[in-house]
Amino acid sequence: MELTIEQQLSAISHEAIRAKSKNEIQQLANELLQKMTLTEKIGQLFQLAPPEANVEGLKWEHSESNASAQLISAGKVGSILSVVDSSTIFKLQKLAVENSRLGIPLFFAADMIHGCRTGFPINLAMACSFDPELIEKSCQQIAYEIAHTGLNLTFSPMVDLVRDPRWGRVMESNGEDPYLNSQLAAAYVRGYQQGDFSANYSVAACCKHFAAYGAIEGGREYNTVDMSERELRQHYLPGYKACADAGVASFMTSFNIYDGVPATANKFLLRDILRNEWQYQGFAISDYTSSYEMLDHKTAKDEEDVALQCILAGLDHEMVSTSYLNHLENLVNAGKVSLDLINEAVLRMLQFKFQIGLFDNPYKHIYANPEQYMRNSETLELAHQVALESVVLLKNSHDLLPLSKQGKKIALIGPFANSNQVVGAWGSLAKDAECVSLLTGISSLVGADALLCTAGCAINDQDRSGFAEALELAKQADVVILAFGEDQNMSGEAKSRAYLNIPGVQNELALAIKALNKPMVSIIFSGRPLELGWYAEHSDALLQAWFLGNESGNALASLLFGDANPSAKLAMSFPYTVGQIPVYYNQYKTGRPSPTGDYSLFRSCFIDVPNYPLFPFGFGLSYSNFEYKNLKISEKTLVAAQQLIVSVELCNTGVVAGTEVVQLYIECANFSVVRPLRELKAFRRVFLEKNSCKIVEFTLTQQDLAYYNIDMKFTPENRNYVIYVGGSSQATLNANFSYSGEG
Ligand code: BGC
Repeated sequence: MELTIEQQLSAISHEAIRAKSKNEIQQLANELLQKMTLTEKIGQLFQLAPPEANVEGLKWEHSESNASAQLISAGKVGSILSVVDSSTIFKLQKLAVENSRLGIPLFFAADMIHGCRTGFPINLAMACSFDPELIEKSCQQIAYEIAHTGLNLTFSPMVDLVRDPRWGRVMESNGEDPYLNSQLAAAYVRGYQQGDFSANYSVAACCKHFAAYGAIEGGREYNTVDMSERELRQHYLPGYKACADAGVASFMTSFNIYDGVPATANKFLLRDILRNEWQYQGFAISDYTSSYEMLDHKTAKDEEDVALQCILAGLDHEMVSTSYLNHLENLVNAGKVSLDLINEAVLRMLQFKFQIGLFDNPYKHIYANPEQYMRNSETLELAHQVALESVVLLKNSHDLLPLSKQGKKIALIGPFANSNQVVGAWGSLAKDAECVSLLTGISSLVGADALLCTAGCAINDQDRSGFAEALELAKQADVVILAFGEDQNMSGEAKSRAYLNIPGVQNELALAIKALNKPMVSIIFSGRPLELGWYAEHSDALLQAWFLGNESGNALASLLFGDANPSAKLAMSFPYTVGQIPVYYNQYKTGRPSPTGDYSLFRSCFIDVPNYPLFPFGFGLSYSNFEYKNLKISEKTLVAAQQLIVSVELCNTGVVAGTEVVQLYIECANFSVVRPLRELKAFRRVFLEKNSCKIVEFTLTQQDLAYYNIDMKFTPENRNYVIYVGGSSQATLNANFSYSGEG
């Protein structure tokens, strides 16, 4: 009698797999390669998104007439995209292992970018924690969940540097700074992969989108990227390089062009930089049909040309589109593509599969009842901790926050007051229904008695019929909390916005409530920096909540009532208005700087808005009060390979303990090319009890001063530098030193 799927899944062994050495893996892959036909080789270069699996809750039935099943059985598929249900994964894998001639297992990949079943804050929010350790730990837990779904690889981290909040995908990023981006990129990779691909609890990562996707013009999705090689190398590449250095399993190309060439077939990016300069050994996959899009870019004349250009450029694995599947064989037979080139790509794919242990156990991540491994208390606690560290306190006049738990009537108003729609875009398997709303979070902390709650309006329509009730509740309250923002579906892929306002009639409602003159706290939910000028001026306290995932309401309640103290800092500047964009802290120096950043005739500025943002990178308040003093540097001149020790005294003069993100920036006084006004070089989260001080030390080396100079050499040059240390990119405490390359 045939076993049921459940029984088959229960019978899968999850014995530990022995990690193999690089040599062993190469040898195994080489031996297998010898046995493969050209068709089978090309099959390994294709990632299929089975149409049957992508509809109706990912149902997939095994039938001979099924095209995907035929392809898999014929050994023409290397991996599967976005099937996230273990029994479907099992069926597909069984087909590959039992029906295809060589039984080469498939690998399974999907986007689990800020959590798997447990919803963590969106990535831009996590970046505001400036806490690589916590992100690494979180990714370990996320990997644990993913490793029980049947998946082998997650398409994360996205390390595209971003400077334009109109782009919906800034929510997936680590923000605008290359150094922070690199630190977090490596943390993601370490967390997912845990230095052992073959482990039962780790997953392979994919660094995306290579390269410079974050720089699309006007923030318009899938648009053009055009920048100098210096800019690319200096600011955009470090995040990807950090992934490569951390041993990321794979790279994904981007939808954009670089220097006129689509990234998917960009030899300069894929061969010259990734393979030759960085000596990267993992595989490169295209983005969803990005290879085909060369037909629309008009750089390929037909599908065969697409395949030719991609393989020549060094693309190993094609996602969804089928130019390799349909044309590589002919190209080889016609002598236009060498077998060596095919073998090179196939070997990378086989090595990956050996590395992650699929040949030892093709079903290694598949479990009968995956749900029991999900949302365990440790993971939820981490999601809670990350949420606490993600919320940025932007204003707190007269210490309105934290609110007292007793004696005050609170009106909680806005479309996010009682909403659990806060998983954020790319929510993977996390469910809105499992997110704690603000109302639930506050009620469970301080009880429901003191709370009055209504939406007042929807996020994005013109209906004002709820205003009257909202105003009535606000009148009865001692404090009003507004929970406003943009819908979670207004950010993410293909969600570019030209306006960065809080949508619908929310601003009108805010105005009407403000007229009541009550103490007002505004909490903003969004996937990107929005224009918050009015809220910054008219709220007594302002919190940027992003989308925090499962623990949203609990974390916000803890922060509002002082059980936790905000510590997050903005990973991306908040503009006054769209017209300022791009506005980011590490902009280049100009020949006619405005002395204050405000209007000044014949200076580089606007007549109607300042140069600086509403809230700069690195900014964020705390309920503690941090003071910086006694900035010291160990040497007046940093000589060649020596170190410079920078120390500063940080004091918490406030009434509660708290954590400050101490940031160190440098400014180069002059250089052979124009450098940014400031560059972040180090940061550290420092916890301080009230009324206490600590000396915080940083070590700088010549590497921290280096920059791509006029000859495109990454070098510090013999120059003068200024160091700024403080709690934001506008820190003023400074010291000078010079660098001398002569040792
Ligand atoms: C996105 C990628 C994603 C892929 C697979 C694409 O549309 O750009 O980031 O990994 O889809 O889901």
